Amino acid sequence: MATKKKLNCAVIGVGNMGRHHARVYAEMKNVNLVAIADVHGKSVHGIAGKYKCEYYKDYRRMLDTEKPDAVTVAVPTSLHREVALACIDRHIPVLIEKPIAESIRSAKDIINRGKAKKVPVCIGHVERFNPVIQKLKQLIVQRRFGHIISIGSKRVGLFPPQVLDTDVIIDLAVHDIDICNYLLGLQPTTVNARAGKALNNKMYDYADILLGYNGIDVHIQVNWITPVKVRQLSLTGTKGYAELNYLNQTLRIYKSSYKKKIDSYGEYVVRFGSPQTKELSLTGKEPLKLELQNFIEHIKYGNSNIVTAGDGLAALEIALKAIRAADRSHNKS
Ligand SMILES: NC(=O)c1ccc[n+]([C@@H]2O[C@H](COP(=O)([O-])OP(=O)(O)OC[C@H]3O[C@@H](n4cnc5c(N)ncnc54)[C@H](O)[C@@H]3O)[C@@H](O)[C@H]2O)c1
Repeated sequence: MATKKKLNCAVIGVGNMGRHHARVYAEMKNVNLVAIADVHGKSVHGIAGKYKCEYYKDYRRMLDTEKPDAVTVAVPTSLHREVALACIDRHIPVLIEKPIAESIRSAKDIINRGKAKKVPVCIGHVERFNPVIQKLKQLIVQRRFGHIISIGSKRVGLFPPQVLDTDVIIDLAVHDIDICNYLLGLQPTTVNARAGKALNNKMYDYADILLGYNGIDVHIQVNWITPVKVRQLSLTGTKGYAELNYLNQTLRIYKSSYKKKIDSYGEYVVRFGSPQTKELSLTGKEPLKLELQNFIEHIKYGNSNIVTAGDGLAALEIALKAIRAADRSHNKS
């Protein structure tokens, strides 16, 4: 669809995340936000007024009336399949919030229907569009860290009360799993995890996941317990070390000054006490805006800078393996 015309976009589910999609579409120059749909009329009516678009309670009626060119699906994860298929069946490209779905079967239904109908399906793994991740990927491709040894990732904070249908692994760790697959250009061959229910008795609210990527070890820590929101990643390589903060978009790089032969203690202190450090601050670009721009360009021109449904399925499969591994260790202890 190579076209200069503005695309008519809509958002289905304008809760915590979907309302940001509506805001960003409304801000984009090459897009008209034509409608939002949400079953929760009262709390979202104001959003339609704010962005001067139509509001529907029934998303199917919205699709049939407005016939949008593209849709964001931001309903609870257990409804992704139903809503995404309704869009795909009407030949409307979709960006589905992460995770792609709650189960492998639902994810595969979405992928297969998208292929059968030749409709673009993208997944909202928004951290891929964080400028610090893009920069880190570039440095990895340039082999600036040498041989990568390990990655540590921490995504913790308090419980989001609107999450009722997934646990902390599906809701949070799926971000980090996708990022590690992307940074390393690989998928893990081993998946281990421990998890627990500290502040509720229904679902895991903390987890430590260990992934093995052909000799590269990845440790992902997630929880809904820590009273402060932390979103960090660190990477160790033979030639350097990186510390990345998703929230303030800073990336600190330490260049290794390792030398096999050290002649004196003084030289040891100088070399290892103060490595060459560089701090990059990449603040200012909203990852969601970059994600939606790429989604729109993908629909218009077929650009490939998107997170595919296959990527979304891979992250979900690994997250579900981690849950099964955690279940096994939970039952043992
Ligand atoms: N990318 C991210 O960083 C990120 C962050 C938060 C949430 N999410 C994802 O976004 C999705 C939504 O999460 P949320 O936190 O916004 O949840 P939420 O509960 O705040 O919002 C979901 C909205 O969907 C509406 N809804 C439910 N059933 C509907 C239906 N049949 N038709 C139309 N609307 C319906 C609800 O009324 C609600 O307003 C989840 O898949 C979640 O994993 C992604």
